[in-house]
Amino acid sequence: MPKYYSLKEKISAREKQIGIWRSLTGHTFIPEKKQYVTLCNFQPPDCEGTEIVQLRNMGVITSDSQFFGIDYNEEIILQNKKWHPDANWICAYWEDGIRSIENFDPSLIYLDMTSFASTERVLYCINSTMHRCKKGTVLLVNLMLNDPRSSKFFDGSYIVSALPKTVPSFELEKWRQKVESFTYNATGYTEMKTFVFFKERK
Ligand SMILES: C[S@@+](CC[C@H](N)C(=O)[O-])C[C@H]1O[C@@H](n2cnc3c(N)ncnc32)[C@H](O)[C@@H]1O
Repeated sequence: MPKYYSLKEKISAREKQIGIWRSLTGHTFIPEKKQYVTLCNFQPPDCEGTEIVQLRNMGVITSDSQFFGIDYNEEIILQNKKWHPDANWICAYWEDGIRSIENFDPSLIYLDMTSFASTERVLYCINSTMHRCKKGTVLLVNLMLNDPRSSKFFDGSYIVSALPKTVPSFELEKWRQKVESFTYNATGYTEMKTFVFFKERK
């Protein structure tokens, strides 16, 4: 697993995401009672490129208690708890993790996956996340466009076109129809695509 906190392109991608979130919501920082929820990996302190450090430095979170990191890797969660005891660290699969958050009300969600862009399971993750979001939530879904261990490439339009098969129309209609996206390559081996979903209706 790459050390995301030391990759310049990853840091720029997060900057871009924050810019998009700011322009969609009109917020410069996450309101006091709202949260930032992410798939986390290791988040070492004293490192500008670490997600939680970058969010603090950019003024997106005003308190660590707004930050919720989910990862199924227990070692990651235990280590992050030691490094940032005031943030929330949950060892679980994404769907179970978000379900366990009391008063779930994020302003920004970063579903930063290590899955390929044409994986059907991703649709279920997005579906279960969308239903739990309130109006005004930005949901970023980050997926791999190629397999760095083979020459396989995946269809970058699959997720958006296949979503109506999984997400019922009464939910999908609440989300902005135009799904912005951008690509970047942080490691030199893997092309990533970030999809921006915005819940603009109740
Ligand atoms: C790309 S990294 C997260 C990087 C981090 N958001 C950042 O900006 O530095 C993805 C992490 O999510 C974990 N992960 C991937 N899929 C998951 C899932 N469905 N449920 C829980 N954890 C998952 C992996 O173990 C990995 O540590």
